[in-house]
Amino acid sequence: MKKRTISDIEVKGKRVLVRVDFNVPLDANTGAISDDSRIQASLPTIKYLVDRKAKIILCSHLGRPKGKVVEELRMAPVAQRLSQLIALPVSTAQDCVGQEVEKKVKVLKEGDILFLENVRFYPEEEANDPHFAQELAKLADVYVSDAFSAAHRTHASTVGVAKYLPAVAGFLMEKELEAVGRLLHSPEHPFACVVGGAKVNDKIGLVQNMLKVVDFLLVGGGMAATFLKAQGYEVGDSLVEKDKLNLAKDLLQEAEKWNVPLSLPTDVVVAEEIKAGAKTLVVSITDIPPNSYVVDIGPQTIELFCTKLRECHTIMWNGPLGIYEIPQFAQGTRSIASFLSTLNATTVVGGGSSAEIVQEMGLTDKMTHVSTGGGASLRFLEGAALPGVEVLPDKEENQR
Ligand code: 3PG
Ligand code: MG
Repeated sequence: MKKRTISDIEVKGKRVLVRVDFNVPLDANTGAISDDSRIQASLPTIKYLVDRKAKIILCSHLGRPKGKVVEELRMAPVAQRLSQLIALPVSTAQDCVGQEVEKKVKVLKEGDILFLENVRFYPEEEANDPHFAQELAKLADVYVSDAFSAAHRTHASTVGVAKYLPAVAGFLMEKELEAVGRLLHSPEHPFACVVGGAKVNDKIGLVQNMLKVVDFLLVGGGMAATFLKAQGYEVGDSLVEKDKLNLAKDLLQEAEKWNVPLSLPTDVVVAEEIKAGAKTLVVSITDIPPNSYVVDIGPQTIELFCTKLRECHTIMWNGPLGIYEIPQFAQGTRSIASFLSTLNATTVVGGGSSAEIVQEMGLTDKMTHVSTGGGASLRFLEGAALPGVEVLPDKEENQR
């Protein structure tokens, strides 16, 4: 079911409250924005509203200030970056609700942009407090949600406020729902899912749900160790989720039931220590030495995965295939990312660390879609309803 979007309504002269997710990574030392992809991703929505002469009120959270004012998490530097990117002035407020803000909204002219202060400075935001949601709603005539990546949170600015204003999706929200939704509902086959990441536990729901739609499942990353152990291989000192061994066995059986070949690494990179400069060795999964950690997939596995992926028309990738933060252990992850970028297939990259890697490698534009949402895209692909999406009304029959 398609959601109503900003193209379905009149916005000229209206006060439009736009929930964006500009929760951007900040450099730990300097506090500078280290990746502005999320700001870039909402530019089409903001530009459209400027062109259509709306009065634009942006709101977002930044970090996890836990209901208190945290100076380092003020929105001003983010507003400044937006202003540079959109080449327009963006004014800021010291608060996100209350009289001061109301005054600033009152003087907005058509096409003006006002950026509210971090909504998470109020505990009422995460509590989805109805009074707080009403205070936000009171600022505007229309609510636009462009915060796909925060749509798994039931907060006042992502869910609550939509009950008090006409609500529509922004273009980023629409694009994410289409790209990620297509994987679940109408993927072009053959369809492969590449899953990595540290823990099986984080990806159970994803694997279970994807088994219903994919033709191949390729598993790497830390979680592969638990699968290998479940199949009876020795994995040295690698982190094995002992309480998840049976679950890994169940998932292997489930894959068989769905007739989906589940490929695990056939060779791996091992190291005695998980740190930069550690000595590494490529070994077959039958020869993983004791006192060693599996830190990456091996070259034979990269080859094997690429051979399968080459056949596919759709590929979804979620989670690094090794401990990519350490360059020596990043080869598997980087090779698969590069390979995906060369394919003509539909390539969708789940958010979070996979998206960061793709961005850092400069490959974002070579993928069909790189989701801005880590947690949100994972929940969505697990088949869960996202509260921030559910709250938006569907298009009318005659608008579709
Ligand atoms: C994210 O970066 O995952 C979203 O912005 C949501 O933030 P949160 O995980 O702090 O709720
Ligand atoms: Mg998160």
